[in-house]
Amino acid sequence: MEIEPTVNQISMDELSVLELKVPAVDNKPMTYLEALSSFLKFSDEEALLLINLPGHLGNRLARESVREWVQLLQNRSSLPTTEASRLGPDILWQLGYKIPKSFKTSGSTTIRTFLAIDPHDRLSVVKYSDQEGFEENGIPWLRKEAARMEEYRFYLGHHVPAVFDRVEVAAQDDRDSAFFYSMEYRPFETLSEYLLYDPAATGQEFFRRLDVALNQQVEMLYDQPDTWISPNQQGENSYVQTFYLDKFKQRLALLTDPINHTAAMFASLIHADTLTINGIPYTNLPRLLELLDIHKDRINQIEPKLLGLAHGDGHLGNMGFEIGKPIENGLVLFDLRGVDLSTRMDIAYDIGKLAFSFLHALVDRTHALTVPVPSLEVNEETKEVSARLEFDASQIDKIILHIALRNQLEGFLQNHQPLVAVLRKMGEESETWLARAKLTEAMQLLGIAPDRLEDDPSGGTAMTYYVLSTLVLNGFLRSVVGVL
Ligand SMILES: Nc1ncnc2c1ncn2[C@@H]1O[C@H](COP(=O)(O)OP(=O)(O)OP(=O)(O)O)[C@@H](O)[C@H]1O
Ligand SMILES: [Mg+2]
Repeated sequence: MEIEPTVNQISMDELSVLELKVPAVDNKPMTYLEALSSFLKFSDEEALLLINLPGHLGNRLARESVREWVQLLQNRSSLPTTEASRLGPDILWQLGYKIPKSFKTSGSTTIRTFLAIDPHDRLSVVKYSDQEGFEENGIPWLRKEAARMEEYRFYLGHHVPAVFDRVEVAAQDDRDSAFFYSMEYRPFETLSEYLLYDPAATGQEFFRRLDVALNQQVEMLYDQPDTWISPNQQGENSYVQTFYLDKFKQRLALLTDPINHTAAMFASLIHADTLTINGIPYTNLPRLLELLDIHKDRINQIEPKLLGLAHGDGHLGNMGFEIGKPIENGLVLFDLRGVDLSTRMDIAYDIGKLAFSFLHALVDRTHALTVPVPSLEVNEETKEVSARLEFDASQIDKIILHIALRNQLEGFLQNHQPLVAVLRKMGEESETWLARAKLTEAMQLLGIAPDRLEDDPSGGTAMTYYVLSTLVLNGFLRSVVGVL
């Protein structure tokens, strides 16, 4: 359909079929709305809010790349903002930020992310929190995250968006304090979005991008011997014990914390030694943790030799590739773990986060994997529990793609020369770091469960994560510890 795009006058229906040539994506035709939604991650409704650009800008948008359009947006002094679209906390507006969009990701609601025009008319992304959060995952986390973004720019240059401002809002009267930072807006597509929303996504292209991401992370972050330190922890306080296993136990305890209305359900789930999933019995999580205690000797063998610089939250949704740039040069890393600058981390933790993100995407982003609450059956007498892991057949393509890639990941990593080489330089063979990565994967799956009780009060999402964590940890004990 050929339309001379004078955007102000065309209807939603026409917009959705209007074809655009967007050079940035291999000249594949896209509709105007698709371009807006995909590159700027706007919903159709949100995109329409921005469409009352003067006609000539609409015309230019139709002819030029989306990158160019982002620049046009950056140069505009104001975006249309009606009362209805006034998003985000009042304090940001009072300070002169205009917020046309809130990014909805799966993350916790303690920290919120907005697209904003800052007081200097720069298109920016604002990360905001007005809560201390659980285990300081609100304001304190964000404060550290901002400082680390700045520090990591030293190592990673333009691969990390520049932080424009860090703003502390002091508590006044009964108003809460808040912290936010703003950074430059980059039009990128995350690896997770690529897999979920690009109908032409292939495993080959995915691994090409991951290869680029890892090459750059190795070269610029991991392979910085000056920053390496020994974990220097032994016995009860070994690194794996404190950073992995103790955290695992804390997360498990949270699920049965009486402040949650689903505490009783999780208490009965946790009580059993065996959890039967889709008719097959598996060793239940608390029992698995006991087994890890019993086999401490084996666990001690996978202790990291050295800690260094890592992303800290390096999952597929936190790595992007800039639209319109060659993949080799387009990596963008963001959402770094909020830890103190001096903190050094286990590189295997990044790898484990990566592994975790495949199942995470299927649960949180697409709801393609679920354990419905009514499927939980508890036999009070025999203390046996069973649950059913269901998949959404209409999303079978996405499920197959994610699971297939997750299965190929280990082989890919073991053959990734720069990664293998840097870890060898740190004194480790792939066997040990891959083992910790698997432990991270199981730990992350469980770790996210308590957070999901707020979004899904039925407890179904939390239980889905519990079940997946059980499956992955069973695999860990079988393959790494050699029991079960
Ligand atoms: N500099 C940026 N430029 C453009 N978009 C960005 C930028 N930073 C963040 N975003 C968008 O905002 C989303 C959320 O950002 P971020 O990952 O930092 O927050 P989060 O809430 O911690 O997310 P999650 O917990 O899911 O990892 C990103 O997925 C991305 O789409
Ligand atoms: Mg993120």
